[in-house]
Amino acid sequence: MKVSKGTKIALIGTGFVGSSYAYAVLNQGLANELVLIDINKKKAEGDAMDLNHALPFGSPMRIWAGDYHDCQDADLVVITAGANQQPGETRLDLVDKNAKIFQSIISEVMKSGFDGLFLVATNPVDILSYATWKYSGMPAHRVIGSGTILDTARLRYLLGEAYQVNPQNVHAYIIGEHGDTELPVWSHAHIGTRPISDYLREGNGPNQEELDQIFVNVRDAAYHIIERKGATYYGIAMGLARLTRAILNDENSVLTVSTLLRGEYGLKDIYIGVPAVVNRSGIREVIELNLQEQELEKLHHSAEVLGQVLKKVF
Ligand code: 2OP
Repeated sequence: MKVSKGTKIALIGTGFVGSSYAYAVLNQGLANELVLIDINKKKAEGDAMDLNHALPFGSPMRIWAGDYHDCQDADLVVITAGANQQPGETRLDLVDKNAKIFQSIISEVMKSGFDGLFLVATNPVDILSYATWKYSGMPAHRVIGSGTILDTARLRYLLGEAYQVNPQNVHAYIIGEHGDTELPVWSHAHIGTRPISDYLREGNGPNQEELDQIFVNVRDAAYHIIERKGATYYGIAMGLARLTRAILNDENSVLTVSTLLRGEYGLKDIYIGVPAVVNRSGIREVIELNLQEQELEKLHHSAEVLGQVLKKVF
């Protein structure tokens, strides 16, 4: 796999999500250097040791437990640090705790002289991506949130199962808040090369009610996983690895990320999940889909809910 020379990732937070991401980075050979930073230095050290022992089976990479000053020459700072949802909690319930943590993380990273890209995964991700943009003073295209990349993957997986098609050939998107107000964009969903509306008309595959249930399963997936195993991490870790690849390899890939809107979809001054072109400079451009009226209304509702939370924090 092509990885630009001298790529360095600084990972902040080596909990379940962070350590799964680190493992994915190693497995996929995504960087030359990976520094692990955690408030619990012992955990970062243990992860670095464990990952280093896998190097004889993977691509050459320098992995160590470091400090914020190691961010100075990083190409990418990935943040997965913070409290995660307990059973019954929503992502938005985490905002007070995690916004505080972010204030100090971003200030430490910026003190190092860091001049790369931020990739944020901590929840509520749309709010914390906005916070990272504000606290860092970086241009918005260099602050990317994982947004609805995982929800989109969940939708593609479930549609792949329903239509018996490889999920990589399912082109369907979840947009909006990474959370309870997200929405599916059925008007632009394709199975392979054909619009989902063709299948619906032919009565081939799930009917609209069944599609609606698939969406509910996507929206509530994290609750179902957290109820069973306390946290979600493999899916988001692979989503972050996918974004890392798109960024470091300058792919111009279309992925659903949380990014700053500046009038697209009639929204502004908000980070929210939408499809965007991602490359080495970060967000090259937001893709503005021609949404149906109902979809646009739902997106506006989602933005409204996020806006209310932003107002409390900023
Ligand atoms: C997820 O959707 C909890 O945001 C996390 O899996």
